[in-house]
Amino acid sequence: MIITNRIDDNTFNGKYYDVVDVFKQWMPKDFDFSNSTILDFGCEHGIMALGFAMRLKPKKVIGVDIQKHHLDLLDIAKARININILPSNLEFYQIALAEKLSVKFKFKFDVIFAWSVFEHVSQLILDEVIADLHNSLSDNGFVFLQITPLYYSPFGSHLETLVDEPWAHLQMQNNVLHDVVMNKSKNATIYKAESNENYEAIKANIWSCYETLNKITADEIIELFERNGSTMKREYRTKTAIQPPKNLCNIYSQEILQTDQVVVLFQKTKLVESPNTKTVLTCPQYGTGDAQIAEVNSGLQSKERALNMEIRRKDAQLKELYASISWRITCPLRSVGKLLKFGKKTIHDLLLAEKESQR
Ligand SMILES: C[S@@+](CC[C@H](N)C(=O)[O-])C[C@H]1O[C@@H](n2cnc3c(N)ncnc32)[C@H](O)[C@@H]1O
Repeated sequence: MIITNRIDDNTFNGKYYDVVDVFKQWMPKDFDFSNSTILDFGCEHGIMALGFAMRLKPKKVIGVDIQKHHLDLLDIAKARININILPSNLEFYQIALAEKLSVKFKFKFDVIFAWSVFEHVSQLILDEVIADLHNSLSDNGFVFLQITPLYYSPFGSHLETLVDEPWAHLQMQNNVLHDVVMNKSKNATIYKAESNENYEAIKANIWSCYETLNKITADEIIELFERNGSTMKREYRTKTAIQPPKNLCNIYSQEILQTDQVVVLFQKTKLVESPNTKTVLTCPQYGTGDAQIAEVNSGLQSKERALNMEIRRKDAQLKELYASISWRITCPLRSVGKLLKFGKKTIHDLLLAEKESQR
């Protein structure tokens, strides 16, 4: 079965020009691209990798992905940027899941770039993939990553071309949502030009993408990289203006529900022994005194993030508990919750207190 991946001009230009411009603007002003090696992790068609190779002219750009869509790159790019062959500083590799890039490549990368990738990396291998990427990075090397849409945001399901309702994935039971996706008629979507057979395959593909999202949050991805020895240099988050429904706000924080994008630049931190044998962090931009302050600050930020993650995990556990038991059980449970919340011993006391407060 063929699934077409039509790349329209807007998508191509966004990846080839805009993303490359943003990336360049985020890197330190004195970063020497001409001498650098860049890894595009999860490169898909490789349009951004091509943009780096052609427009930033680094020594080498390597695109890796578990799929092999890069084979279509020349066809996609040819007419648009007037080339007949791909540039010699650009290479692509299809890799196995969790393949060790620190072993595959005998050199270190100066920059690891990952755009809209880490929400797709299976949670079963996420820790080891990030640790290996860290091992593949040169001392003081950079990691640039972006994730959008984040899972708990209105269209974090990645189903937005088929489901109009914001946060549908956090509210509908999965089989109902599945029916909405599979029953969506072609006429009402952007896939009008696809054959019926392709359209069915595309829907199945998009559903499978939804099912394999790892649900990572902005705080969690930052925490994972910091745990592996990266220091955050710059961070940017965007928030939706859509107001989340009340029932979701009772379960998740408004911050989590409205944050739809995170962009982060990390730098690999080298651990060195100071003269008094205390291990300090050094960053090229800081002296050692500042490095100790940076260490304390980054420790506090990590702790705050870890606490936020813990709260979110507990929220998610509660939600799953509610979802897994029938209303017959949740009703009394909610009553007990209310009793606890209002400090009452019996339902009768609770009802009296509620009546009292309504007067
Ligand atoms: C949404 S696409 C983003 C593609 C590209 N970065 C872009 O923005 O144009 C996510 C890509 O991550 C890749 N991916 C998912 N898990 C991966 C893994 N463990 N290792 C490498 N690539 C992975 C997928 O195959 C997919 O091509």
